[in-house]
Amino acid sequence: MLIKSANSISGSISLPGDKSISHRAAMIGAIAKGTSTIENFSDGKDCASTIRCLRQLGVAIEQTGTTVVVHGVGKKGFREPSEPLDCGNSGTTMRLLAGLLAGQSFCSVLTGDESLQKRPMNRIIEPLREMGANIASEDGRAPLRIGAVDGLKAVDHKTPVASAQVKSCILLAGLLADGQTVVRESVTTRDHTERMLRGFGADIRYAELKGENAITISGTSTLTAQNARVPADISAAAFFLVGASCLPGSDLFISDVGINPTRDAILQRLKRFAVDIDITNDRRLLDEPYADVRVKARKLAKGPFLIGGADVAAMIDEIPILAILGTQIEGGLEIRDAHELRVKETDRISAVVQNLRRLKANVGEFDDGFRVGRSQLSGAEVDSFGDHRIAMAFAIAGLLAQGETSIINAECADISFPRFFETLESVVQR
Ligand code: S3P
Repeated sequence: MLIKSANSISGSISLPGDKSISHRAAMIGAIAKGTSTIENFSDGKDCASTIRCLRQLGVAIEQTGTTVVVHGVGKKGFREPSEPLDCGNSGTTMRLLAGLLAGQSFCSVLTGDESLQKRPMNRIIEPLREMGANIASEDGRAPLRIGAVDGLKAVDHKTPVASAQVKSCILLAGLLADGQTVVRESVTTRDHTERMLRGFGADIRYAELKGENAITISGTSTLTAQNARVPADISAAAFFLVGASCLPGSDLFISDVGINPTRDAILQRLKRFAVDIDITNDRRLLDEPYADVRVKARKLAKGPFLIGGADVAAMIDEIPILAILGTQIEGGLEIRDAHELRVKETDRISAVVQNLRRLKANVGEFDDGFRVGRSQLSGAEVDSFGDHRIAMAFAIAGLLAQGETSIINAECADISFPRFFETLESVVQR
């Protein structure tokens, strides 16, 4: 994919449904009683993996465009799959489905592509075993072989890594446990599972005590089908928001963007960088807030800026595109405490640093992050490393760079955003 430098990004766009919310709507709809209709379901490959796996588990799902109708089978209604469940590139599919399958009275195997087979799974295997699940893996990596059990026992688990996938896995397993399962997190992560479970009628409670979130779910919860509309994905919006923030004269409108407070840190951060962000028409559906977002370029604030700690968890998927923004900030931007980026679809710290160097940016790598100085980017060949967010972040870098930038394996953007490049071209002014 060839990207030419641009003058500005202006116009109006709508974006695919939020990937995290779409996965959860399909899975929770599948174990609810009744038929759920979900509109604006993400059309990315990751959410297609979730639908494929649920169908293999005997759930009838109809899909027309971005409307998905899920005929729920109840918590114990899955059918034993005859083949391994292929989660493709999707960590969310694997980790959340493992939670739903751990307490079933049949065996299943969860596998995935080359990238997913390298990602750490002990973070879910260990708590699930503590609940009585029978899971075998080689060295804590997929494929995961989940054995049949009679049920699970409720646990009180503190997550050692800040991960919404781990939290969600345990909460979903808790639906089949005998009692009240508690998950404690000391760093807040996205809470879509909690909101959606509550929306579907689960007995779920939150408490915040001494800097810790405690979420309690009852194994007696029953779920009732709901209709939902998925807001536009704020992590997809981030690429456009940053592009528009960096190109003078930009003025871009994005409709119906999810602004859940556990996901909107990117908007708050852009405001702190002096970007003009206007949020209007704030609404709510199934407990998920969304709004229209307008971004106008302004002179960026002067750094240096540092992002670390809880802010990293709050913007975990936005760090690659923030690196591109860092190249435009006087004084630069440093990201620390971001070890988790090393175990995403690719090692995102290494991918960002290598690609920025190819574009002649001034960048330094740390074990847990990187530092980017203000740089005049110069077009070159970069690699997506098969990671959708790296492909999209470097498409934006290509707009800022002099000359032309070519992205190897840019098509992997379709993991979360199949029409990313067309959407970008529709608002780029040259
Ligand atoms: C996700 C949680 C995050 C995020 C991923 C989606 C989710 O992963 O990076 O893209 O839907 O729960 P971790 O929870 O492992 O940080």
